[in-house]
Amino acid sequence: MIKKGIILAGGMGTRMGPITKAVNKQLLPLHDKPLIFYPLSILMLSGIKNILIIVNKGHLNQFRKIIPEKNNLGLKIEYKEQSRPGGLPEAFIIGKKFINKDSVALILGDNFFYGQSLTNILKKNINFQKGAKIFLHPVKNPQNYGVAYVRKKKVVKLKEKPKKTNSNLAVTGLYLFDNRVMEFTKKLRPSNRGELEIIDLLNIYRKKNLLNAELIGRGGAWLDAGNIKDYYSASSFISAIENRQGFKIACPEEIALKNNWIKKDNIKKSIKFYGNCEYSKYLKTLLK
Ligand code: TTP
Repeated sequence: MIKKGIILAGGMGTRMGPITKAVNKQLLPLHDKPLIFYPLSILMLSGIKNILIIVNKGHLNQFRKIIPEKNNLGLKIEYKEQSRPGGLPEAFIIGKKFINKDSVALILGDNFFYGQSLTNILKKNINFQKGAKIFLHPVKNPQNYGVAYVRKKKVVKLKEKPKKTNSNLAVTGLYLFDNRVMEFTKKLRPSNRGELEIIDLLNIYRKKNLLNAELIGRGGAWLDAGNIKDYYSASSFISAIENRQGFKIACPEEIALKNNWIKKDNIKKSIKFYGNCEYSKYLKTLLK
């Protein structure tokens, strides 16, 4: 059972320049809430309460303003800074104390996931015991992503941005690791771009036949909101669904209430915290 999760919310945000020159992308709005609410909600939907958020050096206070350690979400939030974007596996070096002897979920702060089956997939997988797990989603342009070749749920090959490929399954930004991730991360060396690479870490698991895959099929959605096109696609998607249904996607208070982690009193505190806005109006509907 995985009880701990890390959100990687640092990075350069180069692809979204000049917007991200002064503001970290995870604090930008995706439709009506900060981008970081979406990966945070995914961890919460999986049942994870214990969360480490890794941010760029100097950005901690900004993040604290929106997700404080003392929060109304029933979460145990910790923060750590990353001095420079040294690659995704650095999460396990920075998060050594946090992870301790446990398994851990890692989610990228700029990834958007949605779909009815998603919660079930997550709840089912959070019980995993051994190895590592990645979540795959079919895409039209696999050459832009890390791509996996799968046989009977086992990953047999991984390729980073392949020019030609007969697999359309992109590796999304959600990963589950057993505690061996601590030992395997130590074996990694920076790539030509000077970063520790997640694909190298996954390959260590794969070579030991310990890398499993779960498919988020066409009934689900996954977007990497770290580039302008997908960022706006995700925003429009959220706006369309929310306006149609009247429900919010990725409202952490609502998820916490449904998980029985908080009481209606906490929702009232959140309403005070956010002030008079549409989001607070939605929170008020949860009090009924
Ligand atoms: P990327 O989108 O791969 O990198 P980036 O955010 O620096 O963006 P760009 O490529 O446009 O410069 O990162 C994926 C997510 O992981 C993103 O939410 C930022 C985060 N991240 C870190 O927190 N630390 C890191 O060292 C890296 C590489 C990424």
